[in-house]
Amino acid sequence: MKRVAVIFCAVFSVALAAEEVEIPKYLKLCSRKSQDVDGCLKNAIQDAIPKFAKGVPELGIPVLDPYYVATDEISYNNGLMQGKLLMKEVNAYGTSRAKILKVISTFSEDRQRLEVDVLFPKILVDGEYKAEGHLNDFKVGGKGFFNVSMEGIRTVWDITGRIENDRWVVEHFMVLPEVEKMKVYFDDLFNGDESLNNIARTFINEYWPLFYRELLPIASAQWDKMLTDFANSVFSKLSYSKLFA
Ligand SMILES: *[C@@H]1O[C@H](CO)[C@@H](O)[C@H](O)[C@H]1NC(C)=O
Repeated sequence: MKRVAVIFCAVFSVALAAEEVEIPKYLKLCSRKSQDVDGCLKNAIQDAIPKFAKGVPELGIPVLDPYYVATDEISYNNGLMQGKLLMKEVNAYGTSRAKILKVISTFSEDRQRLEVDVLFPKILVDGEYKAEGHLNDFKVGGKGFFNVSMEGIRTVWDITGRIENDRWVVEHFMVLPEVEKMKVYFDDLFNGDESLNNIARTFINEYWPLFYRELLPIASAQWDKMLTDFANSVFSKLSYSKLFA
């Protein structure tokens, strides 16, 4: 029984070791014991963004600018309004122009937290969509091309996790972006009725902060899951003691 455990442990540690990827040479590293670790991290993250944006295959990081999503589906129901939105061939442009404003790090023996204050000056999203739903008893729907341009997107990446087996295991990656300006365009939400569609476009562009505020908590929970998985797919390959020596 003991031998089985030993063999199992050996296999397991080989598996872990095999998983480790060398830290890319172009990354600036920051020691957690350094005097100005937050300033160092601010520069290191700022420096890494355009490099990561092109994709880092050995770390499993896809191209991030433009960030491509093949399909995505959102369901929405608040009693008054219910519907389903299917998006295809979606691209988001401008992520590589992120500006890191500030970093606050908190280290303890077995935990780490990074709060990264970041500003995206401008992001443009476009793609195809298909929408169907009801507004009270009124049937809405249509399909076509859409785009959304956003300016002054500011958020904190609040990343917390534990240190385990020389890895940073991320537990939460929370974002709650504030958006200064948003402009939305879509071809058709009323099955070809262009005058109704114009009214809807005008209405949404006037009142987007209301929609945004309503959707943000739902989106934020989804982003936490998505970003946590993404962070772990990267940090699970990197030695914690080498990364934050
Ligand atoms: C969105 O698409 C419309 C229609 O093609 C176009 O007129 C508009 O300039 C686009 N908006 C942005 C921000 O690219």
